[in-house]
Amino acid sequence: MAKGDKIIRMVNMGKTFHTSSGDVNALDDINLDILEGSVQGIIGLSGAGKSTLVRCINYLEVPTSGQVLFEGKSLGDMSDKEVREARRKMGMIFQQFNLLDQRNLLRNVTFPLEIAGVEKKKAQERAMELLKLVGLEDRVKNYPSQLSGGQKQRVAIARALATNPKVLLCDEATSALDPKTTKQILDLLRKINQEMGVTVIVITHQMSVIEAICDNVAIIDHSHIAESGPVSEVFSNPKTEIGRRLILGDGNANAIQPVNFGDSKNPKIRIIFDGQKAHRPIISDIVLSCNAPVNILFANTKEVEGQAVGQMVVELPDSVEEAERITHYLRSNDIRFEEVK
Ligand SMILES: Nc1ncnc2c1ncn2[C@@H]1O[C@H](COP(=O)(O)OP(=O)(O)OP(=O)(O)O)[C@@H](O)[C@H]1O
Ligand SMILES: [Mg+2]
Repeated sequence: MAKGDKIIRMVNMGKTFHTSSGDVNALDDINLDILEGSVQGIIGLSGAGKSTLVRCINYLEVPTSGQVLFEGKSLGDMSDKEVREARRKMGMIFQQFNLLDQRNLLRNVTFPLEIAGVEKKKAQERAMELLKLVGLEDRVKNYPSQLSGGQKQRVAIARALATNPKVLLCDEATSALDPKTTKQILDLLRKINQEMGVTVIVITHQMSVIEAICDNVAIIDHSHIAESGPVSEVFSNPKTEIGRRLILGDGNANAIQPVNFGDSKNPKIRIIFDGQKAHRPIISDIVLSCNAPVNILFANTKEVEGQAVGQMVVELPDSVEEAERITHYLRSNDIRFEEVK
């Protein structure tokens, strides 16, 4: 497998839980490819199916339909031993860290190596190396209770990397942390991705996490993938209602109200920022070169990977002539826009 290959594939994957109060359809017809060496985000509201999806990837949950392929091979066709080996190539970290309280940091990190039968001295060397990578080499004798949340997550990351996995699955890894610590952990995940080539899958309900480190994103809603693609594309032009709610609402979809453009009868257009026109002052250019006023009704643009993405809704002037000058200007400058009904 090389960078950009499909290291994980989910094909028509579904998961139904049979419970005493009926069936719960947690995932339905999931099709998603994860590219080797990428940082893939999976975002959705609570209960959407994110944790179930990530647990199906490493077969902690067995899908009830479809397939999961790891490095081209279906986990459903593997022996138990092969599944365990595949799972060792996929480290996992959680919101609650899940460290072993009775073990010091060194022995937390050697734990998966002990299970894998690695010789003690070798395991300790590897653990020291990883604790150094996460910046905790001087705390190896400490116990988890002596650490902050961010430090605990660093230990969990070191432990997840112990068996040299190709993939790191992160289920809400920063959700229990404050913004500053979140940034440090995300920076560490990015470094692990870039320097060690580990494919990182980030499950989150926060758009800011996706923006900070992901290359690609899949939006999951009510057990389905609503949309997916490169972050800059999905962010600049969300195609689904849930995508718009998550992106415009920065994750807090409950707070989003429909935008009220008033009762103006004038035509309105949505200008789409898709990265290319990052730092151009489009509105002042319009006003200057078209000699026509525009009224900004709504704007939501942000910078993703150094590019401006998002949208701006503007009201065109009363005069048809002026309005046409503006749309002509946009077209001739290759600026995407659409009419708002
Ligand atoms: N072991 C289980 N048995 C029965 N139902 C389950 C089980 N695990 C998850 N579910 C159900 O599957 C659905 C998806 O749950 P899941 O934990 O994957 O959501 P999530 O997106 O991770 O949510 P959150 O953001 O709250 O962590 C929910 O309706 C949940 O109640
Ligand atoms: Mg979850």
